[in-house]
Amino acid sequence: MTPQLRFQNKVALVAGGTGALGRAVSTAFAREGARVIVTYRRRPEFDAFISQSKSNAESVTGVMVDATDAAGVARMLEDVLANGGALDILVNTIGGYHGGKRIWEEDLSSYEQMMSLNLKAGFVLARALIPVMIRQSRGWIVNVASRAGYGQSPGAALYAASKAGALALFDSLAAEVKSHPICVNSVVPSIFDTPANRQAMPAADFASWPKPEEIAEVILFLCSPEARIIHGAAIPVYGRT
Ligand SMILES: NC(=O)c1ccc[n+]([C@@H]2O[C@H](COP(=O)([O-])OP(=O)(O)OC[C@H]3O[C@@H](n4cnc5c(N)ncnc54)[C@H](OP(=O)(O)O)[C@@H]3O)[C@@H](O)[C@H]2O)c1
Repeated sequence: MTPQLRFQNKVALVAGGTGALGRAVSTAFAREGARVIVTYRRRPEFDAFISQSKSNAESVTGVMVDATDAAGVARMLEDVLANGGALDILVNTIGGYHGGKRIWEEDLSSYEQMMSLNLKAGFVLARALIPVMIRQSRGWIVNVASRAGYGQSPGAALYAASKAGALALFDSLAAEVKSHPICVNSVVPSIFDTPANRQAMPAADFASWPKPEEIAEVILFLCSPEARIIHGAAIPVYGRT
């Protein structure tokens, strides 16, 4: 008899699933038997991801949506849940970095962009999905924050503030759903190994950077029954960085 896969019969929504970490998370869920829904904005990125492996092609579907657009997210959810569909897991990997300026040199559009990507997208997604999870009496949410959300980040204050906000948001959400069988946690990476980081820091020691696949494994664990007592946590995944 074929052993049951870890996430068989589960549906996972991976927001930003065509990004560096999002791909690793989506691939891991697909390999472990989940039906995966990936949000994307750029169709060629999604097509490239799908062509990477057979399990991606079989188990992953894509939805083009701007996760900061509440109406768009509501429409997406309606489509996913049509005909008795379920949504068990939300992993939000949407985010972006901006740095290199001090606060008094920053412009308002950078502020809006950081808050939108790193805070608002998670808020819009969680706000839409929590009522579904409460109705289903099950759910797992993992938001990807950043080590920059703790302490001082000179030259990247807007990024740091947006990630600190996301940590607080999901920590408060965890408290709000305490009486429901829904797990809400954050993972907190420092730098990890992505093509963009390699390009930006060609002289860095890439070997010391955690791989997206390693972070994905932690995220899958947080969405597993074995981790049900982990709730309201922010798990550091710094490796040795
Ligand atoms: N890379 C690092 O070293 C590092 C360190 C600490 C924390 N993090 C955090 O880890 C997470 C993943 O990072 P990553 O390097 O994998 O990022 P990434 O490769 O840039 O991927 C980000 C993804 O988010 C999507 N996205 C952006 N805005 C969106 C929106 N409004 N609606 C829907 N999707 C949107 C992007 O899609 P499009 O390309 O189509 O826009 C992309 O798929 C982020 O939260 C990041 O802040 C990263």
